[in-house]
Amino acid sequence: MNKKFLISGGAGFIGSAVIRYIINNTSHSVVNVDNLTYAGNLDSLLSVENDPRYEFEKVDICNSKDIGLVLNKHKPDIIMHLAAESHVDRSIDSPRKFIETNILGTYVLLEQSKEYWLSLNDKKKNKFKFHHVSTDEVYGDLGQKDILFTEETPYAPSSPYAASKASSDHLVRAWHRTFNLPTLITNCSNNYGPYQFPEKLIPLMILNAIEGKPLPVYGNGRQVRDWLYVDDHAKALLLVALEGEIGSTYNIGGNNQLQNIEVVQILCDILDDLAPSKIDDIRHYKQLVTNVEDRAGHDLRYAIDATKITKDLNWKPDETFASGIKKTVKWYLENINWCDRVKDGSYQGERLGTSQS
Ligand SMILES: NC(=O)c1ccc[n+]([C@@H]2O[C@H](COP(=O)([O-])OP(=O)(O)OC[C@H]3O[C@@H](n4cnc5c(N)ncnc54)[C@H](O)[C@@H]3O)[C@@H](O)[C@H]2O)c1
Repeated sequence: MNKKFLISGGAGFIGSAVIRYIINNTSHSVVNVDNLTYAGNLDSLLSVENDPRYEFEKVDICNSKDIGLVLNKHKPDIIMHLAAESHVDRSIDSPRKFIETNILGTYVLLEQSKEYWLSLNDKKKNKFKFHHVSTDEVYGDLGQKDILFTEETPYAPSSPYAASKASSDHLVRAWHRTFNLPTLITNCSNNYGPYQFPEKLIPLMILNAIEGKPLPVYGNGRQVRDWLYVDDHAKALLLVALEGEIGSTYNIGGNNQLQNIEVVQILCDILDDLAPSKIDDIRHYKQLVTNVEDRAGHDLRYAIDATKITKDLNWKPDETFASGIKKTVKWYLENINWCDRVKDGSYQGERLGTSQS
């Protein structure tokens, strides 16, 4: 049965991957609700924007009136909530926006969704779902020998970003428990892949390297992250939204634990092979690695136990880190135009006329 999804934050890195996946691989339809902050990029949706099953609403999730209007206009079956401020460094420099969007915005979306859900006829009401997309950072950090994060791990967020996401998860649980809103929560590990904003580790390193700029690694680079290819996350999100048990939480992870420095070294090796430097002094990109002062409160290790989603919903990632990272590097090398438009700011103004791969 075809569903109508309302996806908040659909112009972001993961949201756009979910939308491309739904439009290209299913017959469901999508309304993308996004107010296009610096992280929102409609260029990432060029390949699907003319599909009749795709619509876009430029709306702020903190605006109750506009959210109410959008819900009543589009009458979605499933809300998938990804809109957020998502960059830890920005949350350290200016936390307020994180509190507003991630906590207040989630509250507004929950309240308006509840009103909308209560107004539905029984048939539609019984099928409605609110799926909140969250992060493994809510669990805090792990020692090198600790067991992995499960759905039962107590919350212990470290950064303002993680604390704001933890708060939003608690709100979603409260709206389920108190008002019976049919909710689902997913907590995922670090994503990587095409169309990621170049402030994040992997695109930053690729783009700096090919320009011969330093590759800044926080502290000793020994922080461990569990990496998941973004399309594998998109597939998991769709599965949970369609088949997950109401009221449940699912952890999603790639089972790819790597130190940040290892990730940078792997990227350098791939780039040496695919795009050797034309600058005389740079024989290997690893020469560009530069250790910089560590991030305040930097978590040592995140790692997800994805047993529940694997067992209950039969999900597993298609990409290994080796295959996904190679695809990712190739994508950035072949889509320099997308990156240039982000860097010069034109992605926020004039639209591109032609599709890019
Ligand atoms: N990137 C990761 O590795 C990762 C991992 C786990 C979970 N998550 C979660 O997944 C979600 C998406 O992450 P991402 O990396 O795609 O983020 P992103 O920063 O790339 O995109 C966020 C999107 O939300 C939109 N947005 C922000 N504030 C808004 C508002 N007030 N109203 C409407 N739209 C707004 C932005 O314009 C942007 O399009 C977030 O909730 C994040 O916490 C991310």
